[in-house]
Amino acid sequence: MRLDKFVCKSTELTKSEATSLINKGHVSVNGALILNEKEQVHENNTIILNGSRLKTRDFRYIVMHKPADTICSNVDEYYPSLFQYLDIEKVSELHIAGRLDADTTGLVLITDDGRWSYNITTPLSHCYKTYRVGLSYAIREDVACKFKQGIKLQGEDKLTLPALLEVVSEKEVLLTLSEGKYHQVKRMFSAVGNRVISLHREQIGEITLDIEVGKWRYLTDAEIKSFKKLN
Ligand code: URA
Repeated sequence: MRLDKFVCKSTELTKSEATSLINKGHVSVNGALILNEKEQVHENNTIILNGSRLKTRDFRYIVMHKPADTICSNVDEYYPSLFQYLDIEKVSELHIAGRLDADTTGLVLITDDGRWSYNITTPLSHCYKTYRVGLSYAIREDVACKFKQGIKLQGEDKLTLPALLEVVSEKEVLLTLSEGKYHQVKRMFSAVGNRVISLHREQIGEITLDIEVGKWRYLTDAEIKSFKKLN
């Protein structure tokens, strides 16, 4: 990681404060003074700022119950950012592992560990996400088979990966996917002549929602590790 990022992650400093201290010669890496904030460093390096050794904070792993009319982005747009619910430090360092649309509710995983979130989002990991879907029209009998075989979405070359459809009632289903293309659930139902009117993510891997709307909690060690053993 870059030296300025390391300094930020291990102190309360902002990026510009960290850069300024590095450029002014306050930081050494393995005994050598480094003035370039872009220098690549490793967590095991001995990095000293004004005489104190820096250690990065542990990664953070969070589950949140996303309300409707919030967006999975670090900045507010038409709707407020989901991050407004996180009353913790350095929220800007966090990102969402598998975004949801503004009108979608449910389970969202948030972290600052890029490798961990890659494991959740890449189809190579076979990390399953389950959505409860409300539909405009009664579900046709052939749809489960079509989704299992994979369907062609508009603008895509490849078929969708096999997905599991369980019928809850005429107009409500559970859909389990191992990938997360843009608006995938809505586009899949549109491709079979239906329309999604409500969408709620209930589960990712082994994690299910056990918190109220707008609330969050840190994941347990076992929950964090459950994604590391995927592949
Ligand atoms: N698929 C969608 O269409 N929207 C979501 O928010 C998530 C999956």
